[in-house]
Amino acid sequence: MSLPESSSVPTPGFNTRAVHAGQEFEPRTGAVVPPVHFSTTYAQEAIGVLRAGYEYGRGTNPTRDSLQEQLAALEGGTAAFSFSSGLAAEDSMIRALTRPGDHIVLGNDAYGGTYRLIARVLGEWGIGNTPVDMSNLDAVAQAVAAGGSNGGKTRLVWVETPSNPMMKITDIAALATLAHDAGALLVVDNTFASPYLQNPLALGADIVVHSTTKYIGGHSDVVGGAIIVNDAELAEKIGFVQFAVGAISGPMDAFLTTRGLKTLGVRMDRHSDNAQAVAEWLLQRPEVEAVLYPGLPSHPGHELAKKQMKKFGGMISVQFKGGEAAARKVAESTSVFTLAESLGGIESLMNYPSEMTHASVKGTELAVPVNLIRLSCGIEDVEDLIADLEQAFAQLDSAAGASGS
Ligand SMILES: Cc1ncc(COP(=O)(O)O)c(C=O)c1O
Repeated sequence: MSLPESSSVPTPGFNTRAVHAGQEFEPRTGAVVPPVHFSTTYAQEAIGVLRAGYEYGRGTNPTRDSLQEQLAALEGGTAAFSFSSGLAAEDSMIRALTRPGDHIVLGNDAYGGTYRLIARVLGEWGIGNTPVDMSNLDAVAQAVAAGGSNGGKTRLVWVETPSNPMMKITDIAALATLAHDAGALLVVDNTFASPYLQNPLALGADIVVHSTTKYIGGHSDVVGGAIIVNDAELAEKIGFVQFAVGAISGPMDAFLTTRGLKTLGVRMDRHSDNAQAVAEWLLQRPEVEAVLYPGLPSHPGHELAKKQMKKFGGMISVQFKGGEAAARKVAESTSVFTLAESLGGIESLMNYPSEMTHASVKGTELAVPVNLIRLSCGIEDVEDLIADLEQAFAQLDSAAGASGS
């Protein structure tokens, strides 16, 4: 945690940390917002004698350091690493912590790009994987104990909670115990919840992953990723691979991410409140087969989500009785919700995962139902979000029909 040493607040709350951690004013001019440091290299006093610890931009950069301090402070970690994308973060972290022959157990509804990286890129280098329903702890224990088909030991258990896009909730504390008992590390992809709603390290996880492209950046204008840990040995290994591979975030990307992160708490409250209202509206609609939102008491993970999350987040998945035709029609009929990849920005987005974000897992056991759309509820006025959906549903009645006729 890095509020100024002189801070009068010994245990600052989340929003105070979000605004101040890693953001000391610039000493030369007093600028309240630290400048963006673009320099790739730093003048040395003598050979190998650095003036302020900075040497070369791939290794360290003051703007990236600010973001990393902020991320560590908000996730309750001792070290954070900022990467050029979420997948770059995942790639460097897996390379740091596994060796050919090792095995990873991951959710059978993991983000398609994560599965593609693990199965199709790292698989070629001898990393095995088993996708499993993470909300079924017995099934996870079996998969962890079984290891890889080549006899490889399970090194990482990898969970998204809430998961993308099936919105399953997994008990992080129980999974951490399970992983540790088997000698594995627990990785939590906290992208959907964000550090405002959920802190996996405090629940026993070893590593937190973020696509900072989403809620942390928050404005759909910067791609990035992060890893946060609270163990010096893990930090050393991940930091080394990040430096050696070079998958760092650039200064401008780090600055934009820092700026977004300052308002995370305010945004997440609004995203969550809007999504709750939209989910409750969807639940009443005859066209809808299922609303997957952990804030609904009918969601199987509702009680668990109440325990490990502050609120339930801005993401909702909806399945239609009218099947693929109905889902596609709604996805193409809104105007406040924009049909687009990604999520977590202030503007509402709509996604048809089986052909968009999760197209790469089509035909595998991770395939997403074709009657499902995913909503990322933004911070607009909730009446407008509902009105937008209402007019899209009205088109559905005449076009595809509520029952797929
Ligand atoms: C849950 C989750 N994890 C990781 C990623 C990968 O992040 P990025 O697109 O920043 O590489 C995504 C991207 O959509 C995601 O949704």
